[in-house]
Amino acid sequence: MGAVLRIEGYVIVSADGMLATADRVMPETLKFEGDQRFFNAALDRADLIVHGRHSYEDQPNSPRRRRIVLSRSIAAVAPDPDNRNATLWNPAGAPFARACAQAGVETGTAAVIGGPVVFAMFLDRYDTFWLSRAPRVTIPGGLGVFPDVPARSPEEILSGAGLAPRERQVLDETEGVTVTAWRRVAPATPRSDQVSE
Ligand SMILES: NC(=O)c1ccc[n+]([C@@H]2O[C@H](COP(=O)([O-])OP(=O)(O)OC[C@H]3O[C@@H](n4cnc5c(N)ncnc54)[C@H](OP(=O)(O)O)[C@@H]3O)[C@@H](O)[C@H]2O)c1
Repeated sequence: MGAVLRIEGYVIVSADGMLATADRVMPETLKFEGDQRFFNAALDRADLIVHGRHSYEDQPNSPRRRRIVLSRSIAAVAPDPDNRNATLWNPAGAPFARACAQAGVETGTAAVIGGPVVFAMFLDRYDTFWLSRAPRVTIPGGLGVFPDVPARSPEEILSGAGLAPRERQVLDETEGVTVTAWRRVAPATPRSDQVSE
């Protein structure tokens, strides 16, 4: 696809790099008003939301947002029969560009919001990955932000993908929650599970 669609990632993780519990539920302990406000405002600015079938941002404007939902229930690309603003996409059957064309969004910003396999698929494509951290929360045995967590930390994985930490904002002073913009400084080494053009 052309280089006109910016790709940004958004996640909040625990101190041990987890985005959900072992049974794939995002716990209340990872929900902070400051982070939710930041996430909501970012998605309001995005032109397209991209996520796996079990992830959903659940915000007031969610029904109005155009989205691409990854699923193996379809061969390639298809409209979502349950949501006229959603396109179902199976990366095994079609490149990302085709899903974007079907969704009617080929310029602007796409926000990738999980889960772990989807976050990893776009590692070679992020312009910026917004990593929120809740340093006082741990989720032992939980679901890591990328499939390689906890063997590698989220930061090691982002660095390895050619991203570097830049500006940081405090989102919750009491709980020490911050978000760091990991911005692209180098092309990543291509890997087999990454998205094709
Ligand atoms: N803390 C955070 O910021 C954050 C962020 C994101 C998610 N989460 C949490 O993480 C949990 C969801 O994790 P998850 O891994 O189950 O979610 P997911 O990636 O949202 O959903 C998995 C589903 O997406 C589809 N899918 C994923 N990869 C695919 C691929 N390569 N090709 C085709 N289809 C693909 C499949 O759907 P089909 O079954 O239809 O084939 C798969 O069953 C939720 O609790 C969510 O709240 C937390």
